[in-house]
Amino acid sequence: MTAAVADAPAQPGPSADAAALRALLDARYGPAEAPAGLLLNDTIAGLLSHRSVRAFAHRPLPEGLVETLVAAAQSAPSSSNLQTFSVVAVENPATKARLAEIAGGQKHVVEAPLVLVWLADLARLEEVGRRGAQPTDALAFLETLFVAIIDAALAAQNALVALESLGLGGVYLGAFRNRPVEVAGLLGLPPNVLGVFGLAIGYPDPERPAEVKPRLSPRLVLHRERYDASLPQAALDHYEEAIKVFQKGQGLPEVGWTSAALSRVRGAEALSGRDRIRDALATLGFGLR
Ligand SMILES: Cc1cc2nc3c(=O)[nH]c(=O)nc-3n(C[C@H](O)[C@H](O)[C@H](O)COP(=O)(O)O)c2cc1C
Repeated sequence: MTAAVADAPAQPGPSADAAALRALLDARYGPAEAPAGLLLNDTIAGLLSHRSVRAFAHRPLPEGLVETLVAAAQSAPSSSNLQTFSVVAVENPATKARLAEIAGGQKHVVEAPLVLVWLADLARLEEVGRRGAQPTDALAFLETLFVAIIDAALAAQNALVALESLGLGGVYLGAFRNRPVEVAGLLGLPPNVLGVFGLAIGYPDPERPAEVKPRLSPRLVLHRERYDASLPQAALDHYEEAIKVFQKGQGLPEVGWTSAALSRVRGAEALSGRDRIRDALATLGFGLR
């Protein structure tokens, strides 16, 4: 049971569930845009309760955690069962410090007791082909890199869901892609392997709690049968308000979503080095045909 559900009114039965679901959806969308008629169970409540955790307690991780997370990750679906992802578990403080630096000085990378670096790994299949003296030319196509990145993302998200169900928290670290060649050097990655992102993991610090961050209204995201390009402004405006309430609650500047999001896509300079990722991938040995 998640904290949010546990905090719901004490009486058991459907009314308690309804109140818990309402609280979860209000947090996720703001009351004005919270959808009705959703189904609830512990799995769905856990998903609705997700928040990225960037402040970790000084508390050791449970035995068997890495193995548990990898089993959860490997239980994700995989394109054609090719299983084109791998993961490096980093606990060494010096390695975490280097990763934090690569990620632009993100302190939570050092503070987290465990950082998992999720890899799009085409080297394994290449080696299997080499051992069997079989061609692996399709590995050199952009499509196969998509396959590996998708595999890595699905696997990592399974791990995140699993660790949150254990009372742990985590945050993804896409900033490792700012300098993918350095990540590869640091972790000893062979050619044809890309660090797609990291996941910093630990027990959330109760003194510095993270809250659920609202999302765009489902009115903007869910299209039935055909895409609706009308983009209702009222739903965008509601979101702007909901995210400002969140920012205020977290002690962040109340900049809203639109300006923050547009700032991230304003130009190549906003990509923090990732505008050169094609060159980095070539350096790492990917074919990209
Ligand atoms: C692929 C990916 C990369 C991310 N990279 C970073 C990162 O480098 N640093 C960070 O603090 N958060 C990172 N995040 C976390 C997002 O900022 C966060 O998921 C988003 O703001 C929504 O907040 P929530 O996860 O709390 O709901 C990343 C998330 C994803 C999915």
